[in-house]
Amino acid sequence: MSNEPGKTRFQLDLRRHLRSQNICDNLIHLICEISEASKYVINAVRTGDLGVAGTSNLYGEQQLALDVLSDRILRKRLIHSGVVCNIASEEMETILQTQANSEGLYSVAYDPLDGSSLVDANLAIGTIISIFKGHDLLQEGKKQVAAMYILYGPRVSLVYSIGNGVHEFTMNQLMEFTLSKENIRLKPSGDIYAPGGLRKKYTPENEKFVKYLEDKGSKLRYSGGFVPDINQILIKGKGVFMYPALLGAPKGKLRLLFELNPMAFLVEQAGGAASNGKISILDIKPESLDHREPVYIGCCEEVRKAVELQAG
Ligand code: AHG
Ligand code: MN
Ligand code: MN
Repeated sequence: MSNEPGKTRFQLDLRRHLRSQNICDNLIHLICEISEASKYVINAVRTGDLGVAGTSNLYGEQQLALDVLSDRILRKRLIHSGVVCNIASEEMETILQTQANSEGLYSVAYDPLDGSSLVDANLAIGTIISIFKGHDLLQEGKKQVAAMYILYGPRVSLVYSIGNGVHEFTMNQLMEFTLSKENIRLKPSGDIYAPGGLRKKYTPENEKFVKYLEDKGSKLRYSGGFVPDINQILIKGKGVFMYPALLGAPKGKLRLLFELNPMAFLVEQAGGAASNGKISILDIKPESLDHREPVYIGCCEEVRKAVELQAG
């Protein structure tokens, strides 16, 4: 869309962009509803209580008041959207069925506030969303019909894909999401790396991978927040993120349904790759809601190298 010099820059908003994508109205409505909910989440993050909620989630992790509040904000919005039949959240123990008939409806898995323990240090965090058609949430990630995240940093941005490229929107002064980057693409290889987990618990294969990255001149860029770390790779168009198997934690930390599937969908849509070291993340059939996997995600060349080293 062209902008004449001297005139106010035309801002294409999320709804209009979605309408140009030839997808069903229910999916447009769902994505817009999630974008609306995120405005309440960022408000809660900016002003809310930083304390603990006094409860724990299905991983036994202590929930912060902000985790619980963000979860409620999203859940309520999804239920009232009228287009969602099943909901799974990193903060809920079981799947919530909101409508028995799944005809024309969607199921959503989400991490309401990834990186919530970073809020006290005022670091960037985000909301991660995975969307399937119908009722089944325990499907391979390649069956997602859409994935998105909202990043709460110095600016608020939203990145989505409905399987037709990856697009970034940025929140303006009116709290509208307007298009800032269309068709984000990753280079085949890049010189940024973000390694999660405790280094002293790395296996020899992962030590080798880190050495390979450092020897070729990759720069360490790890924030401790999955959303900003993946966003950096997408927006800079290069890099690799890993959260490998650790000694004592062979499945790593990150969760397939709520974190890995949606990010793998977005990164693959941008021309990158995501693997657990053996197979593509999007080919893994989840065994349960709390299924975890190791992950190498980003530029194809680095992910290929990680897989090669895992094979020994
Ligand atoms: P959550 O806050 O939802 O529990 O997840 C945090 C995740 C993710 O944001 C990040 O990539 C990873 O935990 C960081 O873990 P380490 O501190 O072990 O590196
Ligand atoms: Mn998380
Ligand atoms: Mn979380």
